[in-house]
Amino acid sequence: MNTKCKLGQSRSLLLVGLLFFFCFNGYAQNTLISDMDHLKWEKVMPGIWKASFGEMGLNAMDYTNSPNTEAIEELGDLPFPFDKEATYSLLTPTRASIRLPLNETEQIYGLGLEFEGMNRRSNVYSLKVDHYGGTKGYTHAPVPFYISSKGYGVLINSSQRVKIYVGVGNRKDSNLPEVIDRTTGKNWAARPISDAIEASVEGGGMEIYVFTGETNLEVVQRYNLFFGGGIIPPKWGLGFWHRVHTTSSDEDVLKEIQEFENNNFPLDVIGLEPGWQSFAYPCSYDWDSTRFPSPGNFVRTLDEKGIKVNLWENPYVAPSSTMYEDIRPYTGSHTVWLGEVPDYTIPEARQVLLNHHEKNHLNLGVSGYKIDEVDGYDVWLWPDHATFPSGTDAVEMRQVYGMMMQDMFDDYFKEKNTRTYSLIRSAYIGSSNHNFVLYSDYYDHKGYVTAMASASLAGLLWTPEIRSADSAEEWVRRFQTVAFSPLMMLNAWSSGKKPWSFPEVTDMVRNTIELRMKLLPYLYTAFYEYNQKGIPPFRAMVLESGYNDQVTSKNGVIDDVKNPYAEDKRLEVTDQYMMGPSILVAPVFTGQKDRKIVLPKGDWFDFYSGEYAGNGETITIQTKLEEIPLFVKDGAIIPMLTSISKEKKEKSLEVRHYGSKANTFLLYNDDGVSYDYEKGEFSLTELSVEKTRNGELSGNSKALNSNKFTYDTITWKFMTK
Ligand code: GAL
Repeated sequence: MNTKCKLGQSRSLLLVGLLFFFCFNGYAQNTLISDMDHLKWEKVMPGIWKASFGEMGLNAMDYTNSPNTEAIEELGDLPFPFDKEATYSLLTPTRASIRLPLNETEQIYGLGLEFEGMNRRSNVYSLKVDHYGGTKGYTHAPVPFYISSKGYGVLINSSQRVKIYVGVGNRKDSNLPEVIDRTTGKNWAARPISDAIEASVEGGGMEIYVFTGETNLEVVQRYNLFFGGGIIPPKWGLGFWHRVHTTSSDEDVLKEIQEFENNNFPLDVIGLEPGWQSFAYPCSYDWDSTRFPSPGNFVRTLDEKGIKVNLWENPYVAPSSTMYEDIRPYTGSHTVWLGEVPDYTIPEARQVLLNHHEKNHLNLGVSGYKIDEVDGYDVWLWPDHATFPSGTDAVEMRQVYGMMMQDMFDDYFKEKNTRTYSLIRSAYIGSSNHNFVLYSDYYDHKGYVTAMASASLAGLLWTPEIRSADSAEEWVRRFQTVAFSPLMMLNAWSSGKKPWSFPEVTDMVRNTIELRMKLLPYLYTAFYEYNQKGIPPFRAMVLESGYNDQVTSKNGVIDDVKNPYAEDKRLEVTDQYMMGPSILVAPVFTGQKDRKIVLPKGDWFDFYSGEYAGNGETITIQTKLEEIPLFVKDGAIIPMLTSISKEKKEKSLEVRHYGSKANTFLLYNDDGVSYDYEKGEFSLTELSVEKTRNGELSGNSKALNSNKFTYDTITWKFMTK
């Protein structure tokens, strides 16, 4: 209700006012937000609604996969989650905007990949695909999807840059807080609280989707399932990745592989950086004949050792490329590093690239790409006024370029019935069903952990890759984080570092990598849940039941040099996250001798010792250099490989149980490389722990469908005595 209508002091005035209100109720409602139209909602699936107005340009959803209808139906239905009457749209000659209600206590999370925090309340974001930094919302994956603590999510489908005001910016005809004099009023606020989220884009329209959920996690599940659910990476993708120095030749790579063997380090993927090409920045995509005279032999040799090859590239085509003449008819008005920018909205352009890549790389056995620079940086990317042959707006082109590339390669690999696991530096709406992981040039360790958590709120996967370090301590700490992430990678493109570059911590690094690799059955099953139910395998704590979001604020003080407005600072816990159903990961940063961990409700146990750690409380632990702190839920069942050697890997399991609860775990397995699992080619094994009559715990396993991908031996280990 509009508090601006203060209805006078006298009784008669009040009566006149009431009469006016009742007689012209319809009129009054429509004019509450005077110049805006009500949004019209249609239900598209159980718990999912859509409203649209005006005309959109490039539809970002053209580069996403179709919904997993069955899984969405299984989640069930819920009523529309907020007041439909308080949802508005407005078209002006230059912008399309919306206004959605926001309750005073509601918390808002999401809006894509972020390095500094996850709670978005009381701020303004310009959601632009870009290098990270500077303006809020400029990031590799600025997904216009937010989650409310009230149990719903909102997606703004537009390929234009969304400018969004989360609980700030007060319309004069809205529910206004009290106006306070700054000189005398204690509660004067630089950002008076507003009762809405308002957002706008340049151009003529947009679509808005609402996803409900009983919990924050269920909202995210519906969002992911709407785009087909999550991916199951090939098993090799969850192993160890090493990107070699950019000037490496085939012989250098073979030497490095030998060193991995000598140092007893596992290796699953070799990444080649720009120097594998005859020309880079812009790119030729052709092998450099001096460094790689025989690429077919090179890829085959690695394949025989069980090592995949991943190739770096960016989308900008060098005049010397063998695909240059073919792609030229389909490129935009401007160049990037003087290379042509293909318009991959055009099917013929996609065909040119795929034909070239198939012939030169994919037919040789290359497993995927690292697609760089699709986020860009204004000073080298095409300008907003550039033109493209399809007529696609240049701003929209930039916003979805990364998704276009992901979609194109995913479709290719799927058609070949081979899974890829690749890297990309930008993503956008509906990314969960694409086999790509995000990375950055930014390198703050704590920011990397926050990014991993924030990625889970927007259907994204993130790698906190390790590149280099200033000390052995930093080296091992970063290794521990990357080992507990979607993609475990040393990116030595410039540093030339090896996992053993800091000898004093080599054993610790090796043990960390081994632990991650032993957890493969657990992690692989977590990805299966991502695929089937949309549950992110790496999750922000706000998606965990029993977690009490620890957002507190610190009263601001006036700083008349930096900020003459005393603004409250929000303190959020962003340095811990969940991996799979029951492991809480709490990375340690250089110099931290102790650290706090917020445990959700329920009993939690130390992963290494099985000892009780706490319940619904904040604990402080003394850190150990050799260990990344891991905590496990009561009743957790964690299947682990007993050996990570390539020959013995899939043979036997040790299944750990923590705490005292009986429980079951549905273990998933398949061939690890193809899409045959979509045709039912997989095994599910029920691992269950029961309490026997004398109170002892006993573990059992039962193959549920086929024995094709089950383990020969299973040993139970009860960790909590
Ligand atoms: C950067 C990328 C790095 C590395 C480098 C090679 O743009 O983020 O990871 O690949 O290019 O030139």
